[in-house]
Amino acid sequence: MKEYSSDRASSFTESVIRDMTRVCLRHQGVNLAQGFPDFPAPAEIKEAAIRAISADFNQYAITWGTPALRKAITDKFTWYNGVSYDPEKEVTVCCGSTEAMIASLMAIVNPGEEVIVFEPFYENYGPDTILCGARPRFITLHEPDWHFDPQELSRAFTNNTKAIILNTPNNPTGKVFSYEELKFIADLCMKWGVIAVTDEIYEHILYDGAKHISLASLPGMRDQTITINSISKTYSLTGWRVGWAIAAAHLTASIRKVHDFLTVGSPHPLQEAAATALQMDRRYYPALAEEYRERRDFLMPVLEEAGFRIYRPNGAYYIMTDVGHFGFPDDVKFAFHLVEKVGVATVPGSSFYSKPSLGSTKIRFCFPKKLETLRKAAERLKAFKG
Ligand SMILES: Cc1ncc(COP(=O)(O)O)c(C=O)c1O
Repeated sequence: MKEYSSDRASSFTESVIRDMTRVCLRHQGVNLAQGFPDFPAPAEIKEAAIRAISADFNQYAITWGTPALRKAITDKFTWYNGVSYDPEKEVTVCCGSTEAMIASLMAIVNPGEEVIVFEPFYENYGPDTILCGARPRFITLHEPDWHFDPQELSRAFTNNTKAIILNTPNNPTGKVFSYEELKFIADLCMKWGVIAVTDEIYEHILYDGAKHISLASLPGMRDQTITINSISKTYSLTGWRVGWAIAAAHLTASIRKVHDFLTVGSPHPLQEAAATALQMDRRYYPALAEEYRERRDFLMPVLEEAGFRIYRPNGAYYIMTDVGHFGFPDDVKFAFHLVEKVGVATVPGSSFYSKPSLGSTKIRFCFPKKLETLRKAAERLKAFKG
């Protein structure tokens, strides 16, 4: 009997985060598992999409993205991150940053080469490295401030290292990498000729004066960084699937080839509307961060009162917690208890670690939700007897 699941597909599991959303629906829970907003996206962007469909932007766009969107991407990147790129040769529009990440890794990494990944990590990075045949090399982010050990990181770089994946602001920890940390990473990348693939999807969601620094803006890193982003989080449009990779022309040439054969392109009318999003009044961004601060500051004390040990996030929209003291056998059992008995869906910590045991006392909450939704979760959590 032939085995029809490939070795690659068999070597990772279905997404735990997306699975939790399905379990949550079954139990009519409050979904604090999957990071998507339950509030409306900005009206002007939705109207731009409707106009684009009516104006018949309904066929394939140029494979690597509409000219208007690529220009809006580079203009905004220059404004916010201080680095200029050529929209003609240095941008690839993809189906979300999810595709931008896998297309970038497939474009630069050969089977057997190593990719450094900070752990805990956004769960897609594990399968991403497997799908491109890479050997992931995990570097621990240490609690409570999620710092890395410079010695450990230095030792991980070898001649066989092709890339390092960085995510700042970080999911699931809420860490925002400092200039000193980024400089340390940048110096290692330059010393070893390693490409940094940085996922900056939460770049505008920052708290308590934290500042986002793009790795590409560090001296020497413009041509050694692939910066990934999308409209999903900044404009509350996770379902549109519009993201991009910004990189020097020789890297972009490879990314564009992989992207073309993976998906051909991101939805054309939504790319037109995304260009409108990226040109919105700049006051939009601090207002977005302020709304998230309010949600974070609502949820943190709720969790503490329910007995969770929390890690205060400086960015992104997640709260990582420690639940070891509740005495459950592991994080998965705990998460199922919460969704089935309390009615609140979360993500078991093990889905952010290479070895489940490393995350077995952790649970992640997300808060891109209306205050009314968070209040409903708070009511339910009051009933939780840890
Ligand atoms: C760090 C990170 N990168 C990428 C994604 C997925 O982004 P997109 O919707 O652009 O594919 C997420 C979604 O939660 C995320 O947290």
